[in-house]
Amino acid sequence: MTKLHFKILRYNPKKDTEPFYQDYELEAKENDRVLDCLNKIRWEQDPTLSYRWSCGHGICGSDGMTINGEAALACQKLVKEYDSTSFTIEPLGFFPIIKDLVVDMEGFFDRMKKIHPNNWTSINPVDISREIRQSINEHDEIKEAIKCILCGVCTASCPVNLDEDPEYIGPAAVLRSQLYIMDSRMKDIDKRIKKVDNPQGVWGCKVYGKCTIVCPKNIKVTKKIIDLKRYIKEG
Ligand code: SF4
Ligand code: FES
Repeated sequence: MTKLHFKILRYNPKKDTEPFYQDYELEAKENDRVLDCLNKIRWEQDPTLSYRWSCGHGICGSDGMTINGEAALACQKLVKEYDSTSFTIEPLGFFPIIKDLVVDMEGFFDRMKKIHPNNWTSINPVDISREIRQSINEHDEIKEAIKCILCGVCTASCPVNLDEDPEYIGPAAVLRSQLYIMDSRMKDIDKRIKKVDNPQGVWGCKVYGKCTIVCPKNIKVTKKIIDLKRYIKEG
């Protein structure tokens, strides 16, 4: 067992005038993850602590938070990966805080809606009356983007979103548009391109590469955004 110190940002807009940090000490086992530590704090010390999680295995994408300054999924981070026994835990950046580590993801999902020509119900993917085959090369174009679990970690870490243009739709939405535009089975490509061929769309990306560094699914986000830029430019 190792003794850990957790400093966690707390904020309840209903009663606090501003966010503050609260300290906790706990004992962690060899392979405990940051999520295990938060559970231990909530279950054994402070039931008022709020954070989201569901699957506990890097699939649902709900436990994005900032761990020692870097956005990540708490269920994917072992405490032993960090050099220190002290942890500062904050909510994801960019999104408004609902309570403690829980942020309002509405803005993130609104951005995803912006990339569609109409709305979610008219994704208009394929003629489903028959099998539509893809070659390996065609599938290669989209195999990165289909790994995305919509956790928002990339968008919350993107320097463009954070410091330059909060209206930029962000890496996750651009990645999803790359999927819909470059999937060989898709229709309505021109309408989809129109949605992102603008300064707040794909051209908002300034290639900082932070999205690729933080993505918990190891998606080559920046490369796929560059692929989409090239696809649009070359027609
Ligand atoms: Fe999360 Fe990666 Fe998808 Fe961004 S690209 S939303 S970091 S899984
Ligand atoms: Fe589902 Fe971490 S709890 S991804």
